Amino acid sequence: MKTLDILNITDIEAVDEPKTTIDEPKIGTKKLYIESYGCAMNFADSEVVSAIMRGQGYSTTSTFQDADIIFLNTCAIRDNAEQKVRHRLKHFKPVKKKNPKVIVGILGCMAERLKTQLLEEEKIVDIVAGPDAYRDLPNLIAEAETGQKAVNVFLSREETYADISPVRLNSNGVTAWISIMRGCDNMCSFCVVPFTRGRERSRDPQTIVNEAKDLFDKGYKEVTLLGQNVDSYKWNTTNSDDIISFANLLEMVAKVSPELRVRFSTSHPKDINDDVLYTIKKYENICNSIHLPFQSGNTRVLEAMNRGYTREWYLAKIARIKEVLGNDVGLSHDTISGFCGETEAEHQDTLSLLKEVVFDYGYTFSYSERPGTLAAKKYEDDVPEAVKQTRLAEVIALQRTHCEIKNNESVGKIHKVIVEGLSKKSDQEYAGRNDQNKLIIFPKGNLKIGDYVNILVTHCNSATLIGNVV
Ligand code: SAH
Ligand code: SF4
Ligand code: F3S
Repeated sequence: MKTLDILNITDIEAVDEPKTTIDEPKIGTKKLYIESYGCAMNFADSEVVSAIMRGQGYSTTSTFQDADIIFLNTCAIRDNAEQKVRHRLKHFKPVKKKNPKVIVGILGCMAERLKTQLLEEEKIVDIVAGPDAYRDLPNLIAEAETGQKAVNVFLSREETYADISPVRLNSNGVTAWISIMRGCDNMCSFCVVPFTRGRERSRDPQTIVNEAKDLFDKGYKEVTLLGQNVDSYKWNTTNSDDIISFANLLEMVAKVSPELRVRFSTSHPKDINDDVLYTIKKYENICNSIHLPFQSGNTRVLEAMNRGYTREWYLAKIARIKEVLGNDVGLSHDTISGFCGETEAEHQDTLSLLKEVVFDYGYTFSYSERPGTLAAKKYEDDVPEAVKQTRLAEVIALQRTHCEIKNNESVGKIHKVIVEGLSKKSDQEYAGRNDQNKLIIFPKGNLKIGDYVNILVTHCNSATLIGNVV
């Protein structure tokens, strides 16, 4: 099972455990409890929601028992993500029984996918709000306060929440996310995101740079630019024909300060280009790591997935990335095992692609059919569950050996790390990440959170590097 702090950093990824809010100094009389599921974009959205709610006099609380409003910001990427939310809702029943005035809201992708159906199926829910409806939350709450059910699942072509300063939840004060775009136009056949998050739209680059500046002024040392396909970021400037591309945006953010590290996620194999690679190469503070999901190592499957590239194209991209950024570039991936019609030989192609690249890290999934997607309409979900799980286990086992190989390559080398916080296992050790997004543990010494330090890695296991300050 993935842990949240792996995810904390870059990857657009569905997680197994939710994130909950922190106790915020009281700014109003009312309390909001918000729990976030799914990918980093959802966590970033919860920070926008908290900002909107702060404007209404709500401060966040870490205990739902004393909240006036309980929000679950949900994910719909796989069936189990939705089941988790349904189970979680049961926990709030006693709270609502004790105080019927407590409002329960479902936000995010599951809200968007199920719409009013959620109200029928989950009686405890008062509010259903999709990802583009958060500015309407004050109205929805007012409606719910009169005892009615309130729904807004309108998807916008423009909304980017560009002017809203997110309230940083669960923040270590060092790393933060910045949403640079919303939605997705890609229509991968397995994926529900285009239906839950709507059309792709990019956010005004100046607001992104301003947010990065503001974070840096507040002591943050690292930002992660977020989008479902960051390489298709595009902003048309008003007075000219100039288009600001993702490479341009990366450069603008990198220039905020050489002391501000820049990460980004997720890149798409069909769209990442040389401009992006050369920009990464040019700026030392842009991290030398790329999350490049490939999903399947077989071209027929990729075509059925509507991914827009072949196995050969993907491998050529990896070769190009290594050519420009060097062999020590950090590489991670996502895979789906057991997609419709996947044969044993096609599954072997995924394993062979893994062996050919040897990724530092991977997020691995088994196929879960999502109603309404192209795959659900066109193909039969015909790989038996047991076969999906066997194939997934093989992918995981292979990736684990690769994590070990890659971690071992880091031993004996010096890595520049930002101190992010205490290590999970000991209060005498700090944890931080290197350029390739690898977690390194080292003794606290006199270091402070937010410091840049050089660490000599002395040993490792498959998940972590361990070292000393040099
Ligand atoms: N925009 C990103 C991925 C977003 S979803 C991209 O294009 O790479 C994160 C990951 O969830 C995907 O990369 C995919 O591996 C997985 N995923 C998406 N839909 C899925 C489904 N129906 N079943 C299983 N895994 C899925
Ligand atoms: Fe889904 Fe494909 Fe868009 Fe990623 S690029 S969010 S997998 S449709
Ligand atoms: Fe993210 Fe899940 Fe929605 S992965 S975009 S929260 S469906």
